[in-house]
Amino acid sequence: MRVLVTGGAGFIGTNLVNALIKQHEVGIIDDLSTGHRKNVHPDAWLRIMDILDSDLDSAVAEFAPDAIVHLAAQASVGESIKDPQRDWDVNAEGTRRVAAAAAKAGVSRVISASSAAVYGEPVEVPLPEDAHKEPMNPYGRSKLAAESLMAQELASTSVDFASFRFSNVYGPLQDWRGEGGVIAIFCAKLAAGDAPTIYGDGSQTRDFIFVGDIVGAITAALRTGRSLRDGGGSGPAYNVATSRETTVDEVAANLREASGFSDSFVYAAPRDGDVDRSALDAQKALDVFAWDARIPVDRGLAETWTWFSQNG
Ligand SMILES: NC(=O)c1ccc[n+]([C@@H]2O[C@H](COP(=O)([O-])OP(=O)(O)OC[C@H]3O[C@@H](n4cnc5c(N)ncnc54)[C@H](O)[C@@H]3O)[C@@H](O)[C@H]2O)c1
Repeated sequence: MRVLVTGGAGFIGTNLVNALIKQHEVGIIDDLSTGHRKNVHPDAWLRIMDILDSDLDSAVAEFAPDAIVHLAAQASVGESIKDPQRDWDVNAEGTRRVAAAAAKAGVSRVISASSAAVYGEPVEVPLPEDAHKEPMNPYGRSKLAAESLMAQELASTSVDFASFRFSNVYGPLQDWRGEGGVIAIFCAKLAAGDAPTIYGDGSQTRDFIFVGDIVGAITAALRTGRSLRDGGGSGPAYNVATSRETTVDEVAANLREASGFSDSFVYAAPRDGDVDRSALDAQKALDVFAWDARIPVDRGLAETWTWFSQNG
């Protein structure tokens, strides 16, 4: 199969490309705004460009993929607040254009990255796909809009498609600079011999999912003979998550054990906008394309720490 990965030089993209390239022809479109060329697999076809560029259609047609995994995005909540227009352009309009290019190029399937941010403050835990949606920031709003723009663009075509709402992803190659993910930030601090800071009392929960499980979900969805857009009757959005809550204190305890860090973590006041509890119910992904998260958090954290201790 020929698989085009937009955002293939980023955190999730690099992990995905490295797995796909063992069995498939892989192409990457990435503007390297947050991705890194040094992480791009040498055997991948690479086009450095913005997905908003007018030659997107011809780049997609040139690689002629069977499937597109659309990960390219403005992925930072903080940046979305600073520059909501750019966030909207890349995430909402960019996704519409990738979907349109896919239809023109005769692609069979598009899997597009969405986020737990589309739900906003969780009203129940774990959240099913049809839960109330009230995003709390421009990033969540652009991701939610991207889902419907892709659906509008592809509704009257034969392209199969799905939006995957990832929970909190962590693992090797995650960027800890800027906003980063909390686990990448903890690992980078520990690698420097410094005590990480926990905002809040550490009892807050997230649905932390190891990037290897995200790769597993995407490869399972690329392989399935089932229609993703039909979604077993409930539409093209899927939570891709562990369905479990992990406290920040559990993360800290596992990383202390893995790293041998003997000092305490520092506790500070909670930050505005941080929710207390969060998890997504991923039962639908199991029902439709037979995927569930397999990597327990202690193993994922140990693997992540090993990578940061060698590369961080
Ligand atoms: N990491 C998480 O916890 C998480 C959670 C939910 C959803 N997601 C989504 O998963 C996807 C991948 O996220 P990530 O964590 O790997 O982020 P990332 O920033 O590491 O990767 C995004 C990639 O897209 C590229 N890119 C950005 N804007 C572009 C543009 N206009 N044109 C072409 N390329 C562009 C960047 O250079 C980068 O390589 C994103 O869509 C993100 O919103 C991530």
